[in-house]
Amino acid sequence: MLKVWLNGYSGQIGSAIAKLLDPLQYEIFETDKDELDITDIENVMSFGEMNRPDIIINCAGMTDVEKCENNKEEAFRVNAIGARNLSIIAGKISAKLVHISTDDVFNGTKEKPFDEFDEPNPISVYGKSKLAGERYVKEFTKKHFIIRSSWVYGHGDNFVSKIIQAAQNEDILKIANDQFGTPTSADELAKFIIYIMNTNEYGTYHMTCNGVCSREEFAREILQQLKINAQIIPVTTNQADFTSRHPSYTVLDHLILSILNDYQLITWQDALSHYLKKEGQ
Ligand SMILES: NC(=O)c1ccc[n+]([C@@H]2O[C@H](COP(=O)([O-])OP(=O)(O)OC[C@H]3O[C@@H](n4cnc5c(N)ncnc54)[C@H](OP(=O)(O)O)[C@@H]3O)[C@@H](O)[C@H]2O)c1
Repeated sequence: MLKVWLNGYSGQIGSAIAKLLDPLQYEIFETDKDELDITDIENVMSFGEMNRPDIIINCAGMTDVEKCENNKEEAFRVNAIGARNLSIIAGKISAKLVHISTDDVFNGTKEKPFDEFDEPNPISVYGKSKLAGERYVKEFTKKHFIIRSSWVYGHGDNFVSKIIQAAQNEDILKIANDQFGTPTSADELAKFIIYIMNTNEYGTYHMTCNGVCSREEFAREILQQLKINAQIIPVTTNQADFTSRHPSYTVLDHLILSILNDYQLITWQDALSHYLKKEGQ
């Protein structure tokens, strides 16, 4: 039975993976900050050496973009040093490492989708710390999957849940029309992670649902699918509700997936529909 060590199992993406991992197929070790802080190299090393997982999944991270902006050292400690620590133990025990990264590693000025070979050039502390994490993963492990995704929503507090809650309480929502990307459900991302970790096709992947939209279009689709009447006013990011700073255009091109050609992605609208049904909306 393969042993899988899932870090950050209670986060949006981690909890989606935790639900999909079949305990009959995998021996699963789930840790979060309370059980094991990934920034503590000694604890990471001893946990890894004691349990000797075949696969380490890193879903732990400091994900609040504004908090990262105001706490640069902490952002780099978690997103870069934490990733480094997991890479060192993965290399030492010869485990595969699945590391989740982000579209925020790009600067968003290209106005065409970014593929895996475009040069990252992040503009936020969050993006810079995530890129530093990617570089450590490449430096310390050979058997890695770096998976960049975007606009992920899962169980918990996220753009979708905030829009629904606000639309039920307020008549007018101000939503950014100057940010473009691809909403991706944590479930779709989790399915892909479990698929790819069982292969030997190492490297960097762009994985999002199919399609492109603005934050405003995303919000309209949420309300339309739920048949909620609320007025949406398009505004720029600095005037918008529920939107943190983010490069304006970070659509990810799935170049590597299209070359490998055996993984089917669904549209962001279909993924949203599955999510809303699952969440009982
Ligand atoms: N959400 C997105 O749109 C998106 C898009 C692309 C990539 N990603 C990446 O995917 C990963 C997971 O994202 P998510 O949306 O699932 O985030 P999330 O819901 O914020 O979950 C992150 C998890 O990491 C844990 N954590 C934080 N610091 C830790 C530490 N020092 N040691 C161990 N665990 C720690 C958190 O625990 P506490 O709650 O106790 O702090 C939380 O359970 C992150 O690396 C993020 O950068 C996210």
